[in-house]
Amino acid sequence: MDKVIIFDTTLRDGEQAAGGALNVHEKLDIAKQLEKLGVDVIEAGFPISSPGDFEAVSLIAKEVRTPIICPLAHANADAVDRAWEAVKEAEHPRIHVFLSASDIHLFYQLKKSREEILETSRDMVARAKKYVDDVEFSPMDASRTEPAYIYQILEAVIDAGATTVNIPDTVGYATPGEYGDLIEGILKNVPNISRAIVSVHCHDDLGLAVANSLESLKRGARQVECTINGIGERAGNASLEEIVMAIKTRKDFYNLTTNINTAQIYKTSRLVSELTGFTVQPNKAIVGANAFRHESGIHQDGVIKMPITYEIMDPKTVGIPASSLVLGKLSGRHAFNERLAELGYSLSEEDFNRAFAVFKELADKKKEVTDRDIESLIAQELRTVSEIYHLDLIQVSCGDKGIPTASVKLTTSDGKVLADAALGTGPVDAVYKAINRIVNVPNVLTEFTVKSVTEGIDAIGEVLIRIESEGITYTGRGADTDIIVASAKAYMNALNRLLAAKQIAR
Ligand code: KIV
Ligand code: ZN
Repeated sequence: MDKVIIFDTTLRDGEQAAGGALNVHEKLDIAKQLEKLGVDVIEAGFPISSPGDFEAVSLIAKEVRTPIICPLAHANADAVDRAWEAVKEAEHPRIHVFLSASDIHLFYQLKKSREEILETSRDMVARAKKYVDDVEFSPMDASRTEPAYIYQILEAVIDAGATTVNIPDTVGYATPGEYGDLIEGILKNVPNISRAIVSVHCHDDLGLAVANSLESLKRGARQVECTINGIGERAGNASLEEIVMAIKTRKDFYNLTTNINTAQIYKTSRLVSELTGFTVQPNKAIVGANAFRHESGIHQDGVIKMPITYEIMDPKTVGIPASSLVLGKLSGRHAFNERLAELGYSLSEEDFNRAFAVFKELADKKKEVTDRDIESLIAQELRTVSEIYHLDLIQVSCGDKGIPTASVKLTTSDGKVLADAALGTGPVDAVYKAINRIVNVPNVLTEFTVKSVTEGIDAIGEVLIRIESEGITYTGRGADTDIIVASAKAYMNALNRLLAAKQIAR
């Protein structure tokens, strides 16, 4: 069976999703998890686009050694040089150069001729090739470009040294038949195509990204670009987990394999959801909360008698934890450690001790601590941004008659203790106003959601907020059995991200 190269672009195209910005440490956490998942290529960022992206690519290049690490560069000398600067310490570096190819983009956006585009594409691939052997080229908006012109560009860039040629359906316009024909046409009509891997990159504007990707693999493409949970620009990119599980479950049809360790899919999906703040819809294939739940009595009866009656995949194959055993306040370090291992976490001693202390605190408040509670707790405790302000204390008074009042105490990273109080229209408003009096960074709250992690009155509440400052959105998350405390933690988390981003930008 032929192997399909899985090129993950969660950290580049995925992060381009509105409101999905990640900080450098979060990107590194995701890259490490993608390595465990077994992706072949990680597109780690777009170094020329911001100092944060440059830093993230450099860090991932140094620390994540198994997969190919690939920065993106538009077809411009400075962008290519910056991409190389960021990735040069990788064990397996690649540079990905792209340039628009469709007449629509050339006429309305770039105001360049086809000849100029072809020449720049060739020159920039040649420039990247001076730095590294592994060079990818993408003619952007390929699915709306005349195929004969795509063939010419591809021939030129392969001659200039491109080893992978990627065919983006940039605006998610193609249908499976058309896109498959385009890939087949490329394989037949580009004379030197045997010297490059043909890759596909599909967006989901018409909900066809996975279908288009799979069709093109059937027609001979051997690299597929995708993201965890299908996140990405606008409606997103093709979802990694759906492509990989389609290939695995229907190997009789596709006759293909991947290097993906599917048992890491669920954990990777949860991590990306937690860090980006993009909740996975319950009916999402493979990783949604209902993907393996059977509600109808007839289906339940069938699954009890023989899972294959209504289940085409075993949930364990994608790493959904088999046991729903709960821990409680009598559970000790050993039981907690075992549960963490079953959930796929391996923590350093210091992180384990912190997590165990928080678990004990939670178990005192909550009778049963479930897997989802543990995931939430780990997300909260071990993946915090470096804190410029730490929330020490909040105290709130509210009710239907009085004026909601909040006092807060924060500590700065250099140990200064700051306290203030404020009135508000409700307890969360009062807390946020009190925090604003201390932190004092202008921002607008654009989203606020609270959800309970599990059922039950003692459940942990998870708060997700987004704030906007100078046109940039920052996400914050907080979890606690008290939703006012969770709201305060989420706000502090978002503010710390905002402040850290401003420090990097300076
Ligand atoms: O969608 C697209 O065209 C892209 C390119 C940069 C490959 O993301
Ligand atoms: Zn894209």
